[in-house]
Amino acid sequence: MQKYIFLVFTCTLLIIACQKDDNSGLNPPNTEEPTSSWELIQRQIFEPNCVACHTAGTTFANQSGLVLTEDVAYENLVDKLPKNPAAVADGLMLLEQNGLPSLYTSFLWEKINAPNQDHFYQDHPEYGEIMPLGTPPLTNGELEYIRQWIVAGAPKESFVVDEAVLEDDTRFEPPAEDFVPLAIPVSGVQLHLGPFQVAPNYERELFQYQKLNNTEDLYVNNIEIAMRKGSHHFILYDYPSGDEPIEGEIRDLRDENGNDNFETLFSMRNQIFVFGTQFRNTNYTYPEGVALKIPAGQGFDLNSHYVNYGDSPVTGEVYVNLNTVDPSKVEHEAEELFLSKTSIFLPANQETTLKSEFTFSDKRHVFLLTSHAHRLMKEFRIFIKGGARDGELVYFTNDWEHPALINFEPAITLNPGEGLRAEAVYDNYTDQNVSFGLKSTDEMMIIFGAYYKD
Ligand code: HEC
Repeated sequence: MQKYIFLVFTCTLLIIACQKDDNSGLNPPNTEEPTSSWELIQRQIFEPNCVACHTAGTTFANQSGLVLTEDVAYENLVDKLPKNPAAVADGLMLLEQNGLPSLYTSFLWEKINAPNQDHFYQDHPEYGEIMPLGTPPLTNGELEYIRQWIVAGAPKESFVVDEAVLEDDTRFEPPAEDFVPLAIPVSGVQLHLGPFQVAPNYERELFQYQKLNNTEDLYVNNIEIAMRKGSHHFILYDYPSGDEPIEGEIRDLRDENGNDNFETLFSMRNQIFVFGTQFRNTNYTYPEGVALKIPAGQGFDLNSHYVNYGDSPVTGEVYVNLNTVDPSKVEHEAEELFLSKTSIFLPANQETTLKSEFTFSDKRHVFLLTSHAHRLMKEFRIFIKGGARDGELVYFTNDWEHPALINFEPAITLNPGEGLRAEAVYDNYTDQNVSFGLKSTDEMMIIFGAYYKD
């Protein structure tokens, strides 16, 4: 209700602001051709969507502490602390120039990244509203343009992003309030987890191993996922043959008091990441000609994490459609990437950076990367090792619980003798030395992902 009232108030003021603009000719839009990616963002994205509110002297500019008119916008963003105290407490800046990691420390990006809005509102109720306030989100093309500009170091001069990305004028639309289960696939199999209850003020993370009951090999080239509201993440895991958990059993990660459930932790020791998402609705297609082979009789571990900060129970539920293609259409099988460092030693009360390197003897096209570590991990980076792109940072996360999942289109091609290098920073704030292990008080350092060969 509060939000509703606020929005009405907002729109009224907007109309007044616009009328004033029309009459007095204040802030005439700058129609000159932009000479850099930044100028394009300022003139073609911020000017029409943000500046009416973020202009010096307006109530909104005072409330947000942010003026985005062309004369000062860049200086007001780069290396500036947000006004929002919760964002400051979380270590965010409005915008930094460190490339990929800056996406994860940018409050500007948090505030406009509409596809992530479930997590934005769920995890950070104090972060205010998604921008632009009261109007539809920026187009997916505009967001992609800004995202790539930040990854390129957010320079003020020069063009660093291909303008073609702006052609995507679709906009994020939040999933319907009423949950709609996925239809049974025309060609493929459906997995279904739940429904299950999530108690008030509780985080429920659970696993269930489900057999697909497929009598023949399947080739999956598309995965659709639909989840009820409140989901934090969903992951499909595979196991080396013989290590699978008991079929059908619900394995909770924590008991009702929030303490780790050791048996569940133990069952996770040999998990291999297959696919995951942090969004309630996902429709993922493998690269052209690539499919995930599911041998006859195979199963997957379904891992769901729900967060309920409310006072009444919520229901969690997940549908997964594994859509298959005819084997004749498959040129390459998707392979699981699983690169683990087990020599881990983190002295007590100390920050330690660990490195690991993996070289491949065959040519690989990597199209998905994520990472796995436990609670002492602060930052996890993956770089290309060798070849023309040697040293390029391709993956970053600063969230051990919900590590980023990054897709690569086109895939990263690694020639024989090239590979991946990981660097992870751990802050062992405890009084105990920590080494590799399964318990949540032990640590891990794993690169997960997917690739295909020629
Ligand atoms: C209708 C008015 C309005 C529009 C349009 C608008 N904003 Fe805002 N903005 C606000 C208000 C009010 C706040 C403070 C409350 C909040 O954070 O939700 C704010 C806060 C912000 C903040 C956080 C500032 C801080 O330091 O805490 C950022 C970043 C931001 N806006 C960026 C944008 C961008 C980029 C656009 C355009 C894509 C935009 N805004 C469009 C009104 C607006």
